Formats: sequence, structure tokens, C-alpha cells
Amino acid sequence: MKILFFIILIINCYLIQNSNSENIRPVVLWHGLGDSGLDPLTMGKLKELIENQLPGVYVKNIAIGDSIAEDSFNSFFKNVNEQLEIVCKMLKEDTNLTSGFNAVGLSQGGQFLRGYVERCNDPPVYNLISLGGQHQGVSSLPRCTALNSTLCKIADDLVELGVYEKYVQNTLVPGEYWQDPFNYDEYVEKSVFLADINNVRSEKNQTYKDNLLSVNNFILGEFLADTIVVPRESELFGYYQPGQDNIILPMEKTDLYIEDWIGIQQLDNEGRLIKISCPGNHLQFTDQWFNQNVIPYLNNQIN
Ligand SMILES: *[C@@H]1O[C@H](CO)[C@@H](O)[C@H](O)[C@H]1NC(C)=O
Ligand SMILES: *[C@@H]1O[C@H](CO)[C@@H](O)[C@H](O)[C@H]1NC(C)=O
Ligand SMILES: *[C@@H]1O[C@H](CO)[C@@H](O)[C@H](O)[C@H]1NC(C)=O
Repeated sequence: MKILFFIILIINCYLIQNSNSENIRPVVLWHGLGDSGLDPLTMGKLKELIENQLPGVYVKNIAIGDSIAEDSFNSFFKNVNEQLEIVCKMLKEDTNLTSGFNAVGLSQGGQFLRGYVERCNDPPVYNLISLGGQHQGVSSLPRCTALNSTLCKIADDLVELGVYEKYVQNTLVPGEYWQDPFNYDEYVEKSVFLADINNVRSEKNQTYKDNLLSVNNFILGEFLADTIVVPRESELFGYYQPGQDNIILPMEKTDLYIEDWIGIQQLDNEGRLIKISCPGNHLQFTDQWFNQNVIPYLNNQIN
């Protein structure tokens, strides 16, 4: 009798655990520049880490292209607006994501997933997590060669041509989130991606703001010793005061925040804009750091 009771207890526990894990909200990951969602040594490892921490979770790595080389090439040279159209369609068609998901973007994947929320958000994002994203853009591409020297050489040549030239804007991904502090007006006028999703132009898109406000939390991760993102304050929506590249305005002093173009101030006031930091260089986080700082935002259930 006692044994039977015990067996039933075990079966019950198993069922409860199983139904819990089936309800764990799925996770979508978007990799950074030069990386690939198909690379088992980079994004594959991160997927495994999440699966180990949250048994039964569905984790999807975004890849644009059928091979590591293609995906990595596209992360440099495929127009982000086109990438987003593909991703919106890809996520909508994935039946495992129908009830929504948590999103984790690494580096440029951070602002791209924010773009997904603002422009599509169908299925909707619950927690939006950016690790080392460039939310106010970059003003240069230092140490890019560490990512892929061949592709970086081409990228450098394109920047040389003039980052706001139409051809370059349509071709060079980092150019599409380039904010030249010495040419602010040109950035506002010609940036095909960042100036748009940041609602910097006089005509604001209310849908972008409404969609960003619909997330549960927006988590911004910065790398305290980052030498790849310039300026690294961009990871927390800070940037150079226009006209120079010395004084950096923190998020709270930027027009984007003060006039609340995309809802950042409101999220902040409501305690839903959460800043986390990692002591290392760009994306140099340990498993332990990820488990402590990111997993808690992924450990939630679909109602
Ligand atoms: C750089 O990218 C190209 C094109 O995607 C790829 O063929 C090459 O193997 C990459 N090089 C390295 C060192 O990863
Ligand atoms: C949905 O998730 C299950 C379990 O992880 C997996 O076996 C299946 O391939 C997924 N379906 C799609 C469309 O990715
Ligand atoms: C605002 O963004 C939404 C979502 O991308 C789009 O459907 C709509 O056309 C945009 N509105 C304007 C005025 O650009």
C-alpha cells in the first residue's frame, strides 16, 4: 500500500514537471555580426545551455541562409529591413511559437529583435533581452577583423565609400545602424534602419512605440570592458551628443528618452526597463553569468 502510494506520487511529480516544461515559453536567439545561428560552437552552445537550464524549452536560433558561411555573410551584407521581413515570416510560420516567446539578441541581434517587436511582433515577444546591442548605433567598426577579416575588409571599403551613400546603406549591415555624430542630419535623413526604428524623424510611428510597450520587460545588457562597440554606452541607449565624439549622453539625457519616441522612458518609469551588466569585453560572458543574469528572464510559462 505504502509502495503504491509512493509510485503514484512519483508519477504525479513526473506529470506535473512534464506539463510545466511543456508550458515553458520558447526562446528565440538572434546572433551577432559574423556569427551564425547554425554554428554549433557558438549559438549552438548557447541553445544547449538554455535547454539544460530549462528542460523541455523550445529554442530557435535565427539563421538567414542554409549554411554557416551564408548566414554569416548575410549578417554583414544583407539589408536588415529584408532580413526582418524574412524573420517575421519565419517566426510566424513556426507553430511552436504561436503563443509568443522570449527573445535574446546578441550584439546587433539585440537591435534587430527590437526591430522585430516594433515592426511585427506576431507572435508577440514577452521578455526582450539585448546583450551588447547597439541601440543608438555605432560610430566606427574597431576590431571588426576579429570577426572575419575577409568580410571586414569589404565592410571597411564600403564605409570608405561613404556610409550614408544609398548603395552602402542598402548593402552594409553595420552601416544601417551607423550614427555619425558629425553628420547627425545625414543620419536622420538617410539611415535606412536605425533612424527608422528609433523614430528619430519628425514623423513618428506610433505602432513602434505601442509594440515596444507591449513587452513584459526590456532587458538591456552592457559589457563593461567592451572595446568592439563604440561608444559602448549605445548598449544602454546612450550616445555622443551630436556634433562631436567626446561627450556621451546617458540614455536619460537623449531626446529619444526625453521625448519618449519609442516608449523607453515609459518602460523605465514602470520598472520594466532593466539594465544588467557583465564585467568582460563584448559578448564575453560565462555560462555562470548567463545562468544568473539571463535565465531568470527566460524561466516563465505560457498561461
Ligand atoms: C568569412 O566569411 C566567409 C563568407 O561567409 C567564409 O567563406 C569564410 O570561411 C569566413 N572566414 C572565417 C575565418 O571564418
Ligand atoms: C517544435 O518543437 C518540437 C520539440 O522541441 C520539435 O521536435 C519540432 O521539430 C518543433 N517544430 C518546429 C516546426 O520547429
Ligand atoms: C508604422 O509601422 C507599421 C509596422 O511596421 C507599418 O505597418 C506602418 O505602415 C507604419 N506607419 C507609417 C506611417 O509608416
